[in-house]
Amino acid sequence: MEWEAGTVAVVTGAGSGIGLALADALARSGCSIVLADVQADALAAATEQIDAHGVDTLVVPTDVSKVDEVAALADATLERFGAVHIVCNNAGVTGAGDPWFGPLESWEWTMGVNFWGVVHGVRAFLPHLIAAGGGHVVNTASIAGLWPGLAPSYDASKHAVVALTEDLYNTMQAAELPVGVSVLCPGWVQTGILDSDRNWPAELGELPVTDAVQQVSLDHVRRAVAEGTPPAAVADLVLDAIRADRFWVFPNLDFLELAIARFHDIADGINPTPPEQVPGLPPRTEMMAAMEAMLGED
Ligand SMILES: NC(=O)c1ccc[n+]([C@@H]2O[C@H](COP(=O)([O-])OP(=O)(O)OC[C@H]3O[C@@H](n4cnc5c(N)ncnc54)[C@H](O)[C@@H]3O)[C@@H](O)[C@H]2O)c1
Repeated sequence: MEWEAGTVAVVTGAGSGIGLALADALARSGCSIVLADVQADALAAATEQIDAHGVDTLVVPTDVSKVDEVAALADATLERFGAVHIVCNNAGVTGAGDPWFGPLESWEWTMGVNFWGVVHGVRAFLPHLIAAGGGHVVNTASIAGLWPGLAPSYDASKHAVVALTEDLYNTMQAAELPVGVSVLCPGWVQTGILDSDRNWPAELGELPVTDAVQQVSLDHVRRAVAEGTPPAAVADLVLDAIRADRFWVFPNLDFLELAIARFHDIADGINPTPPEQVPGLPPRTEMMAAMEAMLGED
């Protein structure tokens, strides 16, 4: 779709990282912006940045895992602007603690934000996009939505987002509804994602502990994220995809190779094997040696 000044765009997770970059790029292209995030201080700072572009903004503190709060976000958007045209369901968190032996609440948190947050966003806004005569939905998944290998709850949530977004695209096509759909599948991007536990909900109890083995891999991933793609470059690709009505958005093609190799293994009936090298990380043997050394110190 093409758009003009005054087109209304909603971005969840707009307080930081990719969401903030999306809000910024959409504001620079003339959109009125609805910023939604669960973290109040980040939302305030982001609003100041977006306001500087001189566009209309609406700020709605929102926990996307809660259906009532996302419904309230849609109501507030419609009340203020009368219509909505672009919806970026982008808020996301990593897992916390050990996925198999740690508390189940970690899964509930990750699935709540990453999966249910997207479901709530699509269901709350889709009728309004159709009523507006057309629009576009962008769901932020991850390359982890096509290649599991990072963290189980995160990988599962992102596989679900890829699947539901593809189904949404097919539904819009089959029903000839004027709503474009894109799924964003980044590799490493320079954001605050590895500090997601800053928003761990108190209602889920104590923050699960990160053990020594997880910490080694986290340290490597932290370096990869710090050297990752700038969020602004990711946002530019997303805006191109909305304009071109492109479904897949892959900022990091080296990661796509891992997903392709996985699908070849599936077709050949080969059992899953961890890759020797994940882009941005040391070779697997080096990671294993570092983990063994750390465990040996205990
Ligand atoms: N950074 C990466 O390398 C990377 C790679 C692939 C996918 N992603 C995805 O990109 C999206 C954006 O993350 P990011 O990398 O910009 O991280 P980020 O931590 O910088 O931004 C995430 C934002 O989501 C907000 N948020 C967290 N829980 C929320 C909730 N319950 N309700 C509403 N907002 C909430 C946070 O406050 C934060 O502002 C996520 O879906 C993430 O999984 C990131």
